[in-house]
Amino acid sequence: MAENTSKATLSFNGKTLELPMQSPTVGPDVIDIRKLYADGDVFTFDPGFTSTASCQSSITYIDGDLGELLHRGYPIDELADKSHYLEVCYLLLYGELPTAAQLEDFETRVTRHTMLHEQMQYFFRGFRRDAHPMAIMVGVVGAMSAFYHDSTDISDPWQREVAAIRMIAKMPTIAAWAYKYSIGQPFVYPRNNLDYAANFLHMCFAVPSEEYVVDPILAKAMDRIMMLHADHEQNASTSTVRLAGSSGANPFASIAAGIACLWGPAHGGANQACLEMLRQIGTVDNIPEYIKRAKDKDDPFRLMGFGHRVYKNFDPRAKVMKESADEVLNLLGIEDNETLKVAKELERIALEDEFFVEKKLYPNVDFYSGIILEAMGFPTSMFTPIFALSRTVGWISQWKEMIGDPQQKIGRPRQLYTGAPRRSYSEVEDR
Ligand code: ACO
Repeated sequence: MAENTSKATLSFNGKTLELPMQSPTVGPDVIDIRKLYADGDVFTFDPGFTSTASCQSSITYIDGDLGELLHRGYPIDELADKSHYLEVCYLLLYGELPTAAQLEDFETRVTRHTMLHEQMQYFFRGFRRDAHPMAIMVGVVGAMSAFYHDSTDISDPWQREVAAIRMIAKMPTIAAWAYKYSIGQPFVYPRNNLDYAANFLHMCFAVPSEEYVVDPILAKAMDRIMMLHADHEQNASTSTVRLAGSSGANPFASIAAGIACLWGPAHGGANQACLEMLRQIGTVDNIPEYIKRAKDKDDPFRLMGFGHRVYKNFDPRAKVMKESADEVLNLLGIEDNETLKVAKELERIALEDEFFVEKKLYPNVDFYSGIILEAMGFPTSMFTPIFALSRTVGWISQWKEMIGDPQQKIGRPRQLYTGAPRRSYSEVEDR
């Protein structure tokens, strides 16, 4: 962090306070308001944290105006081009790109932890067949703390490390089994001879009765989807993981909280909602009607896959995702896909439309990911679980960083109270 000797002066209610400033390595300066309540007897009011840094972090940086996303300083488009998911996991977790030996060791450790405790199958079988796989994931990941007692002591760095590896390794198995359970097929065990993305596809699409060979182009596309979702600084689910973990909750419980948050349609659930919307639009001729609805203040309809709290120019992940969508559909020979046509035309119209331009609403990462996943054979209900398994490394890296940060306290926001002032209880017959 760069040194900053300037102070912000705040005057209110006849008082003047000088507040220290801090400079990040990149990005806007921050005003340190930690002593505001103690010295000034006031709080700040910032619902939705639009102007509040909740922590300090050295993992991921986003410049919303430039449309830039950096993991440990490396741009996402360069990583998407040259790296692969497990290498990005290493980078996020440990801060540097691995040497060949470090990468091999890391990949071996992850690969050796992909199996689930056999008894965990009973958890899956306890759910209704029509349960959403995200509901199963929240439950099963939370239940991991009942199985892996030797990695729940958060004060032990070794246990934190084991929990991180276990979570990254087992999440694809959990997501794939949630899917298999929902379609009534037998669970497929992980295969150590396959890489991370190929193993996931194998667990989702193989059946015991015949050989299933994973197409390397599809495995590469899957790896890319995972990479593009790996981390995104203090988004809603990551902040949820940090908040849950700040009380000392174990890592499995904290990540289960993050999965629950990710499920919402304004966050990770947008990829499912987006494809459902594209299908509902159906054909290119219907687009103007939906654009009109999105602009109507009295209509709750929003264009799913558009807009982002931080990106106000473009989402760099969406650019890479669009290329991948073209590649995958080409490979599968479905360039003529009606949903893709609707998506491309919707994007074109929205990017030229004054309403969307003025509000800086651009396609986000979820706009194209659903099209790729559907082409691979996934039902829409699996889109958000795939986001969850990809984001696990981000959650666990941020959680580890928080636990190791001596400045971190339990997360406990204050409020602007608008309820009744103190009053006396009245007996029921007097009301
Ligand atoms: N369609 C139509 N109008 C929109 C959209 C949209 N997708 N997104 C924002 N707006 C409008 C709002 O109505 C609002 O208009 P107003 O100023 O006239 O009231 C203005 O743009 C600002 O919107 P907010 O909701 O205040 O912006 P915020 O930063 O809180 O929300 C969010 C960001 C949640 C992503 C929002 O753009 C949205 O709901 N998008 C659709 C869901 C989606 O795609 N989510 C995925 C996000 S990326 C991710 O999680 C991986």
